[in-house]
Amino acid sequence: MSRILIVEDEPDFAQMVAEWFAADQHTTETCVSGEEALSMATIERYDLILADLNLGGQMDGLELCQRIVAASPDVPVIVMTAFGSLDAAIGAIRVGAYDFVTKPVDKQQLIIVAERALNHRRLKAEVKRLRERIQVAQDFEELLGESPSMRRMFDLIDRVADGDMTILIRGESGTGKELVARALHSRSRRKDEPFVAINCAAVPSTLLEAELFGHEKGAFTSATSARPGLFAEAGAGTLFLDELGEMPPEMQSKLLRAIQEKRARRVGGTKETAFEARLLAATNRDLEEEVEQGRFREDLYYRINVIQIDLPPLRSRGNDVLLLAQAFLERSAQRANKRVVGISSDAARRLLEYNWPGNVRELENCIEAAVALTQYEQITIDDLPERIRRYRAEDFTVHTANPAELPSLKEMEQRYVLKVLHAMNGNKAAAAKILGFDRRTLYRKLASYREE
Ligand SMILES: Nc1ncnc2c1ncn2[C@@H]1O[C@H](COP(=O)(O)OP(=O)(O)OP(=O)(O)O)[C@@H](O)[C@H]1O
Ligand SMILES: [Mg+2]
Repeated sequence: MSRILIVEDEPDFAQMVAEWFAADQHTTETCVSGEEALSMATIERYDLILADLNLGGQMDGLELCQRIVAASPDVPVIVMTAFGSLDAAIGAIRVGAYDFVTKPVDKQQLIIVAERALNHRRLKAEVKRLRERIQVAQDFEELLGESPSMRRMFDLIDRVADGDMTILIRGESGTGKELVARALHSRSRRKDEPFVAINCAAVPSTLLEAELFGHEKGAFTSATSARPGLFAEAGAGTLFLDELGEMPPEMQSKLLRAIQEKRARRVGGTKETAFEARLLAATNRDLEEEVEQGRFREDLYYRINVIQIDLPPLRSRGNDVLLLAQAFLERSAQRANKRVVGISSDAARRLLEYNWPGNVRELENCIEAAVALTQYEQITIDDLPERIRRYRAEDFTVHTANPAELPSLKEMEQRYVLKVLHAMNGNKAAAAKILGFDRRTLYRKLASYREE
């Protein structure tokens, strides 16, 4: 429901237009002169002003329009012009009117133009609100978020950043584990020392040891010169072991030993060197499960998991989705040099409903693509990928008999599995119990959803 001010010196016509809008659930007020309109608009807040260009009093519609735009740029003005006076309409647009309609006014056309203006106003207000919140929420390094679960995490980061304890950062893929590691580093007293990261999954296991601990010249075929290794490179800074769950077993033993002794030997070398870097590790695997399955050393797990930071999945961060989407939108629009300012309310609803198996990274990619695709100033549903457009969270009633829209059994299963998992606050063991799967079946299913 919106408030509309109608400025029109023919009372019968003003009354008729007011009734059209009332039927659409809007409230209207009317006045007959530009002067009156201006004083009303300074006292009250209207969502839309509809003004006749030919007003009886001193101030004509064009001047009114100009002054409204100057005083309250957020309120769209639609002007009504006599048939055939296109120049006047163009003049009004030039001074900042949102749009115009010609008299005699067609009801349908006026309603459409007015709804578009109201939508535009809502979008602008929403963008403004999100921008202000981004400012506030961006306080925490690069990590954007204001949902309770993220706030709790920021709190925890602040409490543990400065210590020497090893920290295990856990979270689904794309939740921001690397950003958390960087935030921990830059909020610690080590912030001016190096931050060195290694992805344990990306380095072949045969090279991992040499990467971490360094090697002497000639230690292996490609070792044409000696290298100090990442533990040494990190110095008194931070060494971040990303994807720790992928580390091969023999390397796990060597790492454990190095952590315990606080020293390590270069590959092909004899003497041990001490290191003082602080260790951070991240994993998207359930390491307890890996320990149970004998794929991860229990002693190493306890060594690393002194403090644990759990990153919530995006689907449980509520409105952070829109906050992040707006921030990504602005960045992408700037990079693409394109005027895209916001997200339509329909598209925003889809973003909030979707379950985001790929988390923040998926959202980032989705918004970047949508900014590239959109033909408007806002991202619409049509600019979103098919999987998001079609996604109906927790919707088990199938409202259609159209074969093209009927979901497969697999899709229904996915919806139900995710609903149960959601209801159990992400606790997989509990969800598996309800679903009647064993835990591994549940893991396999969740992994397969992610691949789609
Ligand atoms: N809270 C956040 N605010 C802003 N950007 C974020 C946030 N979380 C993640 N991102 C962005 O999302 C992307 C993924 O983040 P990151 O690489 O840290 O995730 P990850 O958990 O390490 O993922 P993976 O398990 O796949 O390695 C990055 O581009 C990062 O900048
Ligand atoms: Mg990562």
